[in-house]
Amino acid sequence: MKNYHVSLLALAIGVLSVFGCTPTEEPTPLQDGLGEGEYIPLKELFKDHFPIGAAVTPNHMDSRTPHGRALIEHFNSLVAENVMKPDALQRVKGTYTWTNADRIVQFAKENNMMVRGHTLTWHSQTPDWFFYDENGDLHTPEVAMKQLEEHITAVVSRYKGDVYAWDVVNEAMFDWDPNGQIIYREDSPWYKIMGPAYIDSAFVYARRADPDAKLFYNDYNSIFSWKRNKIFDLVKRLKDNNIPIDGVGLQGHWTVGVSEQDLRTTLDLFRSLGVEIQITELDLSVYLSNDEPGSTIYTDAFNMRQRIAYPMLMKVLLDYSDIITGVTFWGIGDDASWLDTPGRKHFPFLLDEQLQPKPAYFEVQKLIRR
Ligand code: XIL
Repeated sequence: MKNYHVSLLALAIGVLSVFGCTPTEEPTPLQDGLGEGEYIPLKELFKDHFPIGAAVTPNHMDSRTPHGRALIEHFNSLVAENVMKPDALQRVKGTYTWTNADRIVQFAKENNMMVRGHTLTWHSQTPDWFFYDENGDLHTPEVAMKQLEEHITAVVSRYKGDVYAWDVVNEAMFDWDPNGQIIYREDSPWYKIMGPAYIDSAFVYARRADPDAKLFYNDYNSIFSWKRNKIFDLVKRLKDNNIPIDGVGLQGHWTVGVSEQDLRTTLDLFRSLGVEIQITELDLSVYLSNDEPGSTIYTDAFNMRQRIAYPMLMKVLLDYSDIITGVTFWGIGDDASWLDTPGRKHFPFLLDEQLQPKPAYFEVQKLIRR
């Protein structure tokens, strides 16, 4: 039996030799000089262009765990997926809980990583006391503004010098409105209390607390015309009024169907404003629509879609790397994503469920000529 195998092998080698490929030959190197299956860590791949970040939870902050190791290998920037939000830092008025956020900052320092702060002002994941008094009535603008100032001052001051960029205001624009009639998210309690004034104030408070931190407005669906024009107008108004804003965060909750034209048009538009751009919450779902049936298996079709969509996207980002100052994934690998629901996994990252590079990763790698 053994001999039979050996002779089959010999036959195979013979056939391969006839066709000019002997087993002693090295596998065909990629254009970047790497052998088959070899990869360059993400942060190395993009080091001349922008930092590569990941959204993390405190239990990832351990170099002995697979997630900790993957973070150290691939990423040079971190953002807290949840633990720097208002409900995590100041659930009870006047009582701050820093432990979890501190762990992330500490891990980043130990491993030479940058930290983005997310987020100071949002309608979601913000305790009711920010908005309502003990009778359940909305606060006056004065009270709400004072509380916002105290929160931003405390949080930004604590991480002064450690957090290099803040999402100062998150998701303040109305989302779906093709006619452009409704500008702001009017059902946000912040808006109900004082209209858009809270946006301006939040940036002023943040700048005062850390003059060196980069200050961002962050939103989703921001590559679609109906939304990006509103964001453009907002940022223009802020700049015209000397409100300190440095950049726009495009969250990047996209799918494999993301349009190259939408991306480029959006980046051109914001370039004209003279602000930095960061992709702040990147995940590229494998589904083309919400109607597509869910799967918990990474099918060949999903693989194929990501092998095309990911290099397209990263090529666009490279083309605009003069204005893009950071690209952060909203997670680490496909084992865990906030998008996943039972029976429907989104497999949105470049690292698979074992935190290993996916075929799409190897396609992205080919973009960088070394
Ligand atoms: C999400 C987190 O990923 C979830 O764990 C949490 O339950 C809800 O918030 N836009 C944002 C992020 O700005 O803060 C959100 O994060 C995803 C959408």
